[in-house]
Amino acid sequence: MITIISSTNRLESKSLKVAKEAFLLLKELTDKQVRLLDLSEINFENLNTPSYQSNLKYANNIRDEFLIPAQQFVFIIPEYNGSFPGILKYFIDTISTTGFSETFHNKKALLIGVSQGRAGNLRGLTHFASILMHMNVTVIPQSLPLSTIDNKWDEKGTLIDSTKKRIQKHLQLIN
Ligand SMILES: Cc1cc2nc3c(=O)[nH]c(=O)nc-3n(C[C@H](O)[C@H](O)[C@H](O)COP(=O)(O)O)c2cc1C
Repeated sequence: MITIISSTNRLESKSLKVAKEAFLLLKELTDKQVRLLDLSEINFENLNTPSYQSNLKYANNIRDEFLIPAQQFVFIIPEYNGSFPGILKYFIDTISTTGFSETFHNKKALLIGVSQGRAGNLRGLTHFASILMHMNVTVIPQSLPLSTIDNKWDEKGTLIDSTKKRIQKHLQLIN
């Protein structure tokens, strides 16, 4: 199983739109099961209050459904202040308090950055890659920075073909 993670809870996120497109493209490329985890669907209050140890059942359910059965992850990560969103680290920290090795050890991750500016979140991908490597996840060295994301849609709001093709080529690295 491959899980795609849309790594923000911002409403109307472009990363989520990219993640949905990646989901469709990956399903065409692989016979493996593909799942999409959208961090905006997680009730973070439920995940958090009052400490990392509370409501572990809620966090564990997400982890057990989307992460433990996956051998590979595809993270779609927007650039927030030159890095990845804090909510992504918060999510990882919360679900890693138990079942750490079944969730992360010896799994593979492919990274895609999304930004409004010119960097395509390359720096944030490097930051996040170092955290994944700390957790014993093998990060595929090539990453895909999607910059000036607002210009990558046609008048119907569909991702333009050249960007779709770049995503499709990149996804071949995880299959
Ligand atoms: C808190 C915040 C910080 C941001 N910082 C940057 C930035 O440092 N560089 C950049 O190019 N875009 C930045 N952006 C714009 C995002 O890259 C843009 O919203 C893009 O669509 C990807 O994020 P999204 O998935 O939330 O839509 C920022 C957006 C937010 C909400």
